[in-house]
Amino acid sequence: MDERAADIVAEVLARNPGAAISLPTGSTPVGMFHALVRRQREGTIDLSQLHLFCLDEYLGVSAEDPNTLTSWLRRHFVEPAGIAEAHLHTLPVADPDSAAAAARYEADIAAHNGLELAVLGISGNGHVAYNEPGSAADSRTRVVDLTPESIEQAAGYFGGATVPSKAMTVGVGTLLEAKQIVLIASGAGKQAILKAALQGPMTAEVPASWLRLVPERVTFLIDEAAAAGLN
Ligand code: PGA
Repeated sequence: MDERAADIVAEVLARNPGAAISLPTGSTPVGMFHALVRRQREGTIDLSQLHLFCLDEYLGVSAEDPNTLTSWLRRHFVEPAGIAEAHLHTLPVADPDSAAAAARYEADIAAHNGLELAVLGISGNGHVAYNEPGSAADSRTRVVDLTPESIEQAAGYFGGATVPSKAMTVGVGTLLEAKQIVLIASGAGKQAILKAALQGPMTAEVPASWLRLVPERVTFLIDEAAAAGLN
């Protein structure tokens, strides 16, 4: 799964080295990040031109906070890959006018010709980025309230500090406009939510199910353990 996901990133960058792409945080993408950094060291991929658009971030956190999603992405990918600061696009979570700031983030994506590729994870509650249950298919980049499940999941990254209750996330509609979408999922813990997302009704209650609106552009990369419940 990690190597296949890295293959897709490599294919996109071979066509368009300066592509705008989004990559997820969490435990799932760690192997993909290792594969990408290894390939760059081996000289089989060039990550120096890409524009990385973050998918989500907690509201009100400072850029220096080591617990943020952006800090995590810096440690696991941006720094080892040597991606220039000017090529990292972070969600404007410190701006007091969230709506205007979110609109500017969308405009920045558009100014880079839209997302060429969005790689996504999926949580146990079906969120993609931080589009929590209840997120509409046409939702845009915005501030959302985190669910208790998401706050509990995030607590593992916060080392005892209080997890913010809100986040800014790229919208479902924004993601559905990406020219290519890849959802990665691994492990038996994702079986039930994948069955709901792939074989249940398309519904805001399972935001990942909206990806089936664009079957020609979406790839689900799922390991055997996570796929075990699928028909
Ligand atoms: P995980 O997170 O990769 O750590 O399971 C997925 C998510 O919350 O989107």
